[in-house]
Amino acid sequence: MRPLIAPSVLASDFANLQSEVEMLNNSQADWLHIDIMDGRFVPNISFGFPVLEAIKRYAQKPLDVHLMIVEPELYIERFREAGADTISVHVEACTHLHRTLQQIKATGAKAGIAVNPHTSVHLLEDVIADADLVCLMSVNPGFGGQKFIENTYRKIEALKNLIIQRNSQALIEIDGGVNQHNTPLLLEKGADVLVAGSFVFSAEDPAQTIADLKSSK
Ligand code: DX5
Ligand code: ZN
Repeated sequence: MRPLIAPSVLASDFANLQSEVEMLNNSQADWLHIDIMDGRFVPNISFGFPVLEAIKRYAQKPLDVHLMIVEPELYIERFREAGADTISVHVEACTHLHRTLQQIKATGAKAGIAVNPHTSVHLLEDVIADADLVCLMSVNPGFGGQKFIENTYRKIEALKNLIIQRNSQALIEIDGGVNQHNTPLLLEKGADVLVAGSFVFSAEDPAQTIADLKSSK
């Protein structure tokens, strides 16, 4: 199966956000990946509701919102109202992850769990059946343009086994340092969704780069 491609808007030109979103509309991108950072969960601040709402006004594709924030349960409904189609919260930021996933689903959004590089996927054993998506971080969250962490391949295998064992429908999303070199092995191991920021937006032809990722095997 061809992977879903979710370009990360974090790497786009914010001074020309409308045309960047239109480029993604006209490309083979499946989702738009939206990185929300609070300066607490991660050592960086990205953007919040007004920018998400602006993206939503022009986007013709689902918005995949990745919350890198503490206490995400305080803002789930607002992210949904601002246009999120999928909302992923970090397992490391949720004291009551099961409850927060139900809270996301109650808004009508799909519920995702994001996992830092140091966190074992085995921690998801008792909650994987409730997730629509698992976002495996292949860099430490907080910044675009970082180097891919090789241990991710092993985690995909372990997560895939868990998903099968628990009869979960969750998709496996890989986020961080994705490029043309690591994509074939990521797909072979079982990745369903590829997030790509700098690789897409620093390319001479971003739409073609998205098409290349989409057709890679
Ligand atoms: C990192 C973000 C990623 C990032 C990916 O904290 O969650 O989504 O934008 O960017 P690249 O593809 O440049 O690593
Ligand atoms: Zn992300």
